[in-house]
Amino acid sequence: MITKDLHLAAAALKKGDVVGIPTETVYGLAANALDSRAVAKVYAMKNRPVDHPLIVHVSSFEEAKSLVTHFPEKAKLLVSRFWPGPLTLVLPKSNRVPDLTTGGMQSIAIRIPSKKETLDLIKLCGFPLAAPSANPFGRISPTTALHVEQSFGENVPLILEGGPCSVGVESTILSFLNEEPCVLRLGGLPLEELEELLGPVAQVGKSAKPIAPGMLPQHYAPKTPLKIFDPKAPISTGKIGLLTLNFIPSGYSFQAIEVLSADGNLEEAASSFYSALRRLDEAHLDWILAHCFPETGLGRALNDRLERASHLN
Ligand code: TXA
Ligand code: MG
Repeated sequence: MITKDLHLAAAALKKGDVVGIPTETVYGLAANALDSRAVAKVYAMKNRPVDHPLIVHVSSFEEAKSLVTHFPEKAKLLVSRFWPGPLTLVLPKSNRVPDLTTGGMQSIAIRIPSKKETLDLIKLCGFPLAAPSANPFGRISPTTALHVEQSFGENVPLILEGGPCSVGVESTILSFLNEEPCVLRLGGLPLEELEELLGPVAQVGKSAKPIAPGMLPQHYAPKTPLKIFDPKAPISTGKIGLLTLNFIPSGYSFQAIEVLSADGNLEEAASSFYSALRRLDEAHLDWILAHCFPETGLGRALNDRLERASHLN
């Protein structure tokens, strides 16, 4: 059931149940981050391996501090600039946090989301919420309450309505476990904004062993095979749908076209990216052809998602 009733959602979470929650990036499947029995339900529902850690959502910096053993100065600087917002920090975890929440890791990924409903919900609960994106493992992330309901049906009895996600792509993950901060996942906070504050920031190589499941080569994938547009290797058969910022390749007769932003605005494109991908996935196509985004701002995160969605094709 989709509800706007914060008290109903808080009561369910206090009982140890799982609730779908809105954030500015994507919807999450939330449980009490300090209760491993509740957290176990999230892994089971998502069909997610238990060694793939969850992101913990808090409503204040004080609450974030209580979950870690050390908060580096550079991380505090980022917090003062970018929280609440689409930036997740990986820090050494305190003993308060059950091992299951962090997939057995001695670090914790934390953020303050900026959706008002969810901040109010966390305050009402009085505990942090562990929440991965509310999609079955490896599938397209949800950006509306209805997407969550469509994926999980009765298995998620309660979803808090917060409207469509304004950012539309998962948070940027930055690790502080080594001396210098390092980007583990490109996301809703553009790299340029991080670098403006920190100087050049390293990124985990794509070929390296994944240290975050969002880093698995195959992820965020539609069921319909997705190919990235390559003028040298056109698709020659079948029904084709196009996913594009605003460029329409010639020589194709597309069955469906999703233009994400007519004037090439990457924020607008990100906010409708996953919805458009879902619509194409439901349009009984043989191929989704995706045209790459400019490799700047949110375009980097969108290209990263396209690459992972296309990996096996
Ligand atoms: O925007 C978001 O980040 C959304 C919303 C709901 O907040 N959440 C999200 O969660 O994308 P999920 O589970 O789909 O992705 C969490 C990512 C994974 O790649 C996971 O490996 C990484 O966070 N992560 C969590 N804890 C970590 C840790 N201790 N060290 C390294 N990576 C971690
Ligand atoms: Mg996810």
